[in-house]
Amino acid sequence: MNTALIDDVKEAYIKEFNTEPILIFSPGRINIIGEHTDYNEGFVFPAAVDKGIAAAIQKSNSSVSTAYALDMNSKVEFKLDALKPLKEGSWENYVFGVVAEIQNRNKVLGNFNIVFKGNIPSGAGMSSSAALENSVVFGLNELFNLGFTKEEMIFISQKAEHNYVGVNCGIMDQYASMFGIKDHALLLDCRTIKAKPYKIDFKNHQLLLINTNVKHSLSDSAYNDRRSACEHIAKLLHVKALRDATEDDLETIKDAVTPTNYQKALYVIQENERARKASKAMEENDIEKLGELIYGSHKGLSKQYKVSCEELDFLVEKAKESGYVIGARMMGGGFGGCTINLIEKEKAKIFKESVSKAYKEKFNKECSVYFVNLSDGTHLVK
Ligand code: GLA
Repeated sequence: MNTALIDDVKEAYIKEFNTEPILIFSPGRINIIGEHTDYNEGFVFPAAVDKGIAAAIQKSNSSVSTAYALDMNSKVEFKLDALKPLKEGSWENYVFGVVAEIQNRNKVLGNFNIVFKGNIPSGAGMSSSAALENSVVFGLNELFNLGFTKEEMIFISQKAEHNYVGVNCGIMDQYASMFGIKDHALLLDCRTIKAKPYKIDFKNHQLLLINTNVKHSLSDSAYNDRRSACEHIAKLLHVKALRDATEDDLETIKDAVTPTNYQKALYVIQENERARKASKAMEENDIEKLGELIYGSHKGLSKQYKVSCEELDFLVEKAKESGYVIGARMMGGGFGGCTINLIEKEKAKIFKESVSKAYKEKFNKECSVYFVNLSDGTHLVK
């Protein structure tokens, strides 16, 4: 499936370091519904996909470690005991962060070399970063017999993102990437970190992603701001997280918060409810209902939570107008990346053509359309 990608990192590794590496594949993810609910300890509904990061990794006898981002043809040598985050936006931070977080847990690492390459477009909102973090922690766990469970590994990846990348993300991306199950989506309770798998078969409908191919700046700081606002309101409500609050609770403190923060909290409470309803709709095979909830999610993300952008709104509008997309919304953190669409299978091709044309006309740039398969989580490649 990702054979070419895996062969590439293996070949580059052998060329560079002259030994056989172990190989890891770590997928990106989609999310059907439940956006910005994870850090509010609520529900999300992600799935791992058949695109992600392939990594080749092996111990090194040298006095330094090397990480090689094959896509960017960029290489860095580093010492394990002197890791500091580099400037914002540096790919190295994902690797350094994972290494540092492992060491913070009193585990001893030796030097290693890693070569990685991905096929998730960066900025697509499909979690290439979680895929990379997971590939590094999974690889190091194997190489040095660290004995981490998968659950421990995803928290290491998440902390790397918080402390080295600077994004105070929730746990959805790392979870979905690590624990994905082929042909399934996972209804994850982000408080208990337990998920219920749902076999995905939308009969004559399918999922389709459309990438705006934009990533607006400030998305990281806007993300962190949203998270702080939610935590602030949870505190005012005397609950551990917004997951514990109802719309009525929120009403009681309406005067104590700004109207924009009120809307944000309301969005989270409603989105969490939509994620629960979506799982029920799926159990009842009520695909129309699921679609409705997905459109509702976009409206909330755009109008209340304010993490959409013109390009995403345009794509969702076109989906609605088409008449054969029964649900569409922006996916992931926002401010760019992809929309996820629930579309009649037979109409996918014609929609792809019409939406691509309209997007080009409107923004004078291309969008990209992806069909994805739901896949297993981070694993060794034999
Ligand atoms: C990003 C974060 C996730 C999650 C989503 C929004 O992908 O990494 O933790 O908060 O945004 O749902």
